[in-house]
Amino acid sequence: MSFSNGSPSVDLPVYSGSIGPDVIDIRKLYAQTGMFTYDPGFLSTAACQSAITYIDGDKGELLYRGYPIEQLATHCDFMETCHLLLYGNLPDAKGKAAFTRNVTQHTMVNEQMQFFLRGFRRDAHPMAIMTGLVGALSAFYHDSTDINNPEHREISAIRLIAKLPTLVAMAYKYSIGQPFMYPKNDLSYAGNFLHMMFATPCEPYVVNPVIERALDRIFVLHADHEQNASTSTVRLCGSSGTNPFAAIAAGVACLWGPAHGGANEACLNMLEEIQAMGGISKVGEFMSQVKDKNSGVKLMGFGHRVYKNYDPRAKLMQETCNEVLAAMGLENDPLFKLAKALEKIALEDDYFVSRKLYPNVDFYSGIVQRAIGIPVKLFTGIFALARTVGWIAQLNEMIGDPEYKIGRPRQLFTGAERRDVVEISKR
Ligand code: ACO
Repeated sequence: MSFSNGSPSVDLPVYSGSIGPDVIDIRKLYAQTGMFTYDPGFLSTAACQSAITYIDGDKGELLYRGYPIEQLATHCDFMETCHLLLYGNLPDAKGKAAFTRNVTQHTMVNEQMQFFLRGFRRDAHPMAIMTGLVGALSAFYHDSTDINNPEHREISAIRLIAKLPTLVAMAYKYSIGQPFMYPKNDLSYAGNFLHMMFATPCEPYVVNPVIERALDRIFVLHADHEQNASTSTVRLCGSSGTNPFAAIAAGVACLWGPAHGGANEACLNMLEEIQAMGGISKVGEFMSQVKDKNSGVKLMGFGHRVYKNYDPRAKLMQETCNEVLAAMGLENDPLFKLAKALEKIALEDDYFVSRKLYPNVDFYSGIVQRAIGIPVKLFTGIFALARTVGWIAQLNEMIGDPEYKIGRPRQLFTGAERRDVVEISKR
């Protein structure tokens, strides 16, 4: 492709991926023209090459390493999905057992971490705690912090995947004043998390298989999502050569925001607010606010930067939602009915249809988590737990990429031109 700004034109190479749009290589643009490109929000910019996750937002398609999310969610569990994202292939039974054993051996956290955790206020937001705890892992596990060492990268990946559930459950137990539960390694990844969350030392806890499967599906559906805000944050943070725990902590911090991982919490809060206003009878009034540009109100759990069609994860989550509510006898749950009413209106209303706004995964995942008994404030923590494998797979991919450089975006400067400082007495 050639580009001209009046002076001799510049040839820019075009590359094709295996699927998806071609990209124009603009790396030499500045050297040859003295100009930068301008793309706030990265609407047209591919910042890296990646072979992990592919999304076709118009089709509503999501592939992890080529496999459609529908097939993975139906035929594979989270441990297989982690193996796939990290190593590029689905394990056979022996490989799965070995990988699961490896993760299981790292589920405990250094005993000192509970004293670190105790420094937080009991009412601290779990994501504030998670940002701190994940970053602090680098202080507790500094034998695996050299990103240039492949063995360190491997062990820190396993440690992060294994320890995140323990840390989320500890943050929860701390907030309600219950004793921390140690991991139980004869349980599945999701089963162990449920045990650490809801068991107490006083009586035996039996994992409900419907809930275990639902939680595992939440993990699979949230495991990776190509170069979203938190993943790009992890890549940018990691590009400086910082350790993996610090880079993942940056991802946790980014995920916290309501336009990203905080949306499921914001969605549930929205449903509760409408319920408090009067429930289904107030849906029309609420929708008028959503459509009024000056109100600042958005229909949380709707819309997506990439999906301009139904989010394929939302369909799978809706299925799980029905299964969990039936198993828990909550089919008549007023919030679920309210969510259904909102969804129905939004899918038919021209405001949403013309803007291609469809429910995203967060619209249903909040309802499922609430039914499981997970407090609303912890929703984003669960998302962070599931996304950790994606973050670490993307970070490790970046470090192994020969084209990897420290990330350093440029700017269009709009501030004051050079001026001289006037002495303070004369200002
Ligand atoms: N409710 C009402 N209107 C909306 C919504 C919504 N949820 N989402 C987008 N719109 C409107 C915008 O106001 C805009 O209208 P306009 O063209 O008249 O100005 C139009 O739809 C396009 O929206 P943009 O903001 O340009 O879309 P963008 O791709 O930048 O935003 C985002 C995507 C941030 C996800 C947005 O849809 C949103 O805020 N949704 C609610 C929060 C949410 O659910 N986030 C979860 C994301 S998924 C995830 O992290 C797993």
